[in-house]
Amino acid sequence: MPAIDPTTQSNYREFTVHQGAIHMDVDFDARVVHGKVTFTLEGASATKVELDTSYITIHEVSVNGTKAEYTLHSRKEPLGSKLEITLPQPMEGKFDVTITYDTTEQTTALQFLDKEVTDGKVAPYLFSQCEAIHARSMVPCFDTPSVKCPYKLSATSPYKVLMSGRPLSQEGNTYYFDQPVPIPSYLITVASGDITGLPIGPRSTVYSEPVKVKDAQWEFEADMENFLQIAEKLVFAYEWGTYDALVLPASFPYGGMENPNMTFLTPTLICKDRSCVGVVAHELAHSWSGNLVTSASWSHFWLNEGWTVYLERRIIEAIAVAEAKQKGLPNPEEYGAQMRSFSAIIGWTSLEGVIANMGADNRYTKLYLDLTPDDDPDDAFSQVPYEKGSSLLVHLEQKLGGKAVFDPFIPHYFKTFRYKSLDTDEFLECLYKFFADKKDILDSIDWKTWLHTTGLPPKPAFDTTLVDQCYQLVDKWSKANGDYTQFTEDDLSSFSSNQVVVWLDTMLQHKWDQATLAAIDKAYPTLGSSSNYEIVFRYYKLQVAGGVPEYCQKMAEWLGTVGRMKFVRPSYQVLAKVDRDLAVKYFKKWQDSYHPICRSLVVKDLGL
Ligand code: BES
Ligand code: ZN
Repeated sequence: MPAIDPTTQSNYREFTVHQGAIHMDVDFDARVVHGKVTFTLEGASATKVELDTSYITIHEVSVNGTKAEYTLHSRKEPLGSKLEITLPQPMEGKFDVTITYDTTEQTTALQFLDKEVTDGKVAPYLFSQCEAIHARSMVPCFDTPSVKCPYKLSATSPYKVLMSGRPLSQEGNTYYFDQPVPIPSYLITVASGDITGLPIGPRSTVYSEPVKVKDAQWEFEADMENFLQIAEKLVFAYEWGTYDALVLPASFPYGGMENPNMTFLTPTLICKDRSCVGVVAHELAHSWSGNLVTSASWSHFWLNEGWTVYLERRIIEAIAVAEAKQKGLPNPEEYGAQMRSFSAIIGWTSLEGVIANMGADNRYTKLYLDLTPDDDPDDAFSQVPYEKGSSLLVHLEQKLGGKAVFDPFIPHYFKTFRYKSLDTDEFLECLYKFFADKKDILDSIDWKTWLHTTGLPPKPAFDTTLVDQCYQLVDKWSKANGDYTQFTEDDLSSFSSNQVVVWLDTMLQHKWDQATLAAIDKAYPTLGSSSNYEIVFRYYKLQVAGGVPEYCQKMAEWLGTVGRMKFVRPSYQVLAKVDRDLAVKYFKKWQDSYHPICRSLVVKDLGL
């Protein structure tokens, strides 16, 4: 049995949670949700039910329909306020606990947007983001990924509602959903606003505000069903029914969030060349890793994200193989491997940067995180579980004898733990059992370094074919020595968007003087206005890091148009290094447009 989850104050271990039912009444005027939640529990020896809450007002609690006594404990950072419900007597068999409550303005899981800050400006908007420990601010619950149950979900709103389940029906302004697959609390979702949908595959619809929906459809329709079919071949059949995606307003703080049946996506993926679809492959892969099979606590977060990055890159590889076959290229498998490596190199480079930034002795650079009740998982969040985690799986794949040997383990692992939550030890046990005949190989893996040591893991071997051209162009700039006439826009014309990203990432590892930065700007005048945020962000960063005032100003303005933390946080950091006053001034200007999670992390980053 996994150790107790340090980031919940609930007594989840005393119960079996059979079912959850949540109704939300969305109040756009008061910017709160009036909620009602019922959990069907079983636990004969319990004398009380303790749930997580955060910034929630409780109105009434009942047990099997009869009013019950409760105490809402004082707040304990970062975990919130424990709701302690007294059970009238020991409860034999199943029983229901119902809570009626309101969220408050401080609720961290919800963002209400005035219609003026939406794209269409016709209706206000609401969306939730519960991972990691924000669900407790939207609904009192056992807020731990160790607890999973099926849900009945519904919400009343003057505008269309989407939730993390299968749509059932609409009666007046009330929308009903069913989530028959057991899910953890962090996957409960709601969104409401002027939302419409278009098909992007036989089992997939993309939703967004009407002004964006056509662009969103074009961006994702070519890949969606292919991704699903490839993932199904790698693991096993997709069992959630439909797979839809919602493209959110700009303030959505992540690239994507794997809410079941309804992945949430940042609008920054709509880059008009389909080069950001890797994020969709990633969120889709979570349908197995994370959503069906869940890490037992945030200390084992790598089991969610490391596995997902591993699957994401296998999907990218398979797509490339299929493309190469279609084009009649001589060696499709090799091209696939190159594309997989290409994505892994981007990830590895970001891991190097992140670990250098956090400090190689930072305890959050361990794969197993060993969180305590004082740790906020949002503070521990980094690329480490993603890249160290996926590197470990690639390392296992290679050590054990390659894909042909490793692949049968994938469905085995996901079947073994489906509908459950597991920790790192259980993963290892499953691995050792499955590869019992390869115990020597497994024993030769330096588990202590991989799992419990800070800093970079051993560097994997990559196929560098697709990055070499990018590195060569960096080299050329390094050796330019004032001769800038040799550079023209043609340098980048044969590059894919992601190759431009790699070129910029590598440029960012060097220091450039102002003359060179001006020459770069002259040679490649369209980089700063690319429709690809990954490119614009890195290009601004390059110029700002070199202290170019014009670009400090541009970046500061740009920060009013994007809310994705991957861009927002490092941008303020680099700005602050060069011109702290400007960074602080613009953060104060834009902060109200950011999601509460993003806002509070930038406050910490800037030391405000
Ligand atoms: N589950 C994560 C997002 C997340 C993690 C939200 C932790 C809150 C806490 C999601 O699947 C994710 O990893 N998104 C990435 C994109 C991905 C391609 C690496 C992101 O947001 O950048
Ligand atoms: Zn993820």
